[in-house]
Amino acid sequence: MENSYHGDTIGTMSVGERGVFNQPYNPLLFDVAKVPFPSAGNEQATIDQLEKLCAQGDVAAFIVEPLVLGAGGMLMYSAETLRALYETCKKHNTLFIADEVMTGWGRTGKLFACEHAQITPDIACYSKGLTGGSLPLAITMCSSAIYDEHYSTDRSKTFFHSSSYTANPIACAAAVANLEIWENEPVYERIENLIEMQAAGLARFKDDDRFTNIRQTGTIAAMDINVKDHGYLSDIGPRLYEFFKSKNLLLRPLGNTLYSMPPYCVTQDDINQIYDAIAEAADELL
Ligand SMILES: Cc1ncc(COP(=O)(O)O)c(C=O)c1O
Repeated sequence: MENSYHGDTIGTMSVGERGVFNQPYNPLLFDVAKVPFPSAGNEQATIDQLEKLCAQGDVAAFIVEPLVLGAGGMLMYSAETLRALYETCKKHNTLFIADEVMTGWGRTGKLFACEHAQITPDIACYSKGLTGGSLPLAITMCSSAIYDEHYSTDRSKTFFHSSSYTANPIACAAAVANLEIWENEPVYERIENLIEMQAAGLARFKDDDRFTNIRQTGTIAAMDINVKDHGYLSDIGPRLYEFFKSKNLLLRPLGNTLYSMPPYCVTQDDINQIYDAIAEAADELL
């Protein structure tokens, strides 16, 4: 999908948005077909393009960030559209890969973003929130149909690829500890509370014409700053970053998009600090 970000390997850069951030690698990247981002009012164009591509019969898989495209600018689209994209893939027997590296573990208000669309991907990628953001760990899950296809007692068919720290025991222990928190503590209550705090924080800016496209999906809140240069290298980004740092806040704008995606342990005071700083930044810098 246009504007998507899936990582920095050759494969993930190939399926992600091309631009200044991966330009030196361009000669190494393989060709993929793209669908446009389903911006409000243009959802059908995305679904139609996916339908057209899948109908050609040679699409290996469709990879997408469910509900929110993160690094591409916190771009949000509906669960209905996500479901329609999934159904298009199913219709043509195209594998559906959900990259929930950013959206997983409660970020969108449910454990996984795909739950909002009541879909089960063929392949799913999880990371960041798996260890509560504390230690690096990722898992890739697949349906048993895919697993069985790869399963063999012939040892020459072993999936030989791994790395030094695959299933690192300390990282796995952090993930287990996080799962215990999910099972034993009122995590959904905290997330609901954070969703409300974020909504109230954003509401302060809804009539402020220095900001546009104020949006929220679950705990993720974002807005665009009304400047002429919308690009990733827009100079407003570093200026804001420095301003927020001087307020003891790490907020990293993506081009002219400001977003807040705090850990689930934040308090109302922390949230106030974020939105007060955004208001001050607007007065001083815009
Ligand atoms: C949606 C998404 N996919 C993939 C990645 C890349 O993950 P990693 O850095 O673990 O390869 C990120 C990282 O920000 C991401 O947001």
